[in-house]
Amino acid sequence: MFCALTEAQLVRYQQDGFLVLPGFKPAAELALLRARAGQIVEAFEPGQRASIFTTQAQSRAADDYFLGSGDQVRCFFEEEAFDATGQLRQTKALSINKIGHALHDLDPVFDAFSRGPALAALAAGLGLARPQLWQSMYIFKQPGIGGEVGWHQDATFFETEPQSVTTFWFALEDATLDNGCLWVTPGAHLGPLRQRFVRQGDVVRMDTLDATPWPSGAQAQPLEVVAGTLVVFHGLLPHYSAPNRSPQSRHAYTLHVTDGQARYAVHNWLQRDGSLPLRGFV
Ligand code: FE2
Repeated sequence: MFCALTEAQLVRYQQDGFLVLPGFKPAAELALLRARAGQIVEAFEPGQRASIFTTQAQSRAADDYFLGSGDQVRCFFEEEAFDATGQLRQTKALSINKIGHALHDLDPVFDAFSRGPALAALAAGLGLARPQLWQSMYIFKQPGIGGEVGWHQDATFFETEPQSVTTFWFALEDATLDNGCLWVTPGAHLGPLRQRFVRQGDVVRMDTLDATPWPSGAQAQPLEVVAGTLVVFHGLLPHYSAPNRSPQSRHAYTLHVTDGQARYAVHNWLQRDGSLPLRGFV
């Protein structure tokens, strides 16, 4: 089991903006999480609402299903899940883009996966003095229709002063070039925050803060990792993932964590009231 970051790993993280930790989670834990996600999707009744998740839209239509999901467990369809007549192209289980965004606080299986001494030690080693778990997402990256997630920085959605948001990205299946693994640019977290996702009431918008271009294709590095690997990365690290046109899904689970010592922006889309208090890794 993971005990603590070595000095060399910390230096690497500070230089590259990310760290790849193979074998962080045992296969049994991955299997439990996958089974639980399957149950949640099975129980999901879409009704008339087919909320689609995309980060490509510069300004998304205000969508109360999305905006109200910060303290809920909700399923979102892949953008390409429906055909021209509005029917699912694949089974429901193969059409969901993700489940979000409070799995870690509302579901016992996800709670157990998201917390514990190994994660607490890692967070402490990365300098998160008072970790706060804002968001969890189970990402399916479905075979054939798994959507692209374009270049972005997670601090766009979780701004704090000073910057503190850190992403914990767990590979639940092998992530490869074929099924849409993560791509990053080592060291690019030392650049500026380019965009800010602002919520005002039920309206959201994307503001440009800095015109620095996204890394070029030549600067991007794929992170092909095996199931059980944890990729942890800095909130300013630009990253993207390609569409999944392969017959193989690419399940991943992510946590977005800030330091409670930093000031969490009031314009961030995800806020918590006292009914579901923020918790750390313990
Ligand atoms: Fe991201």
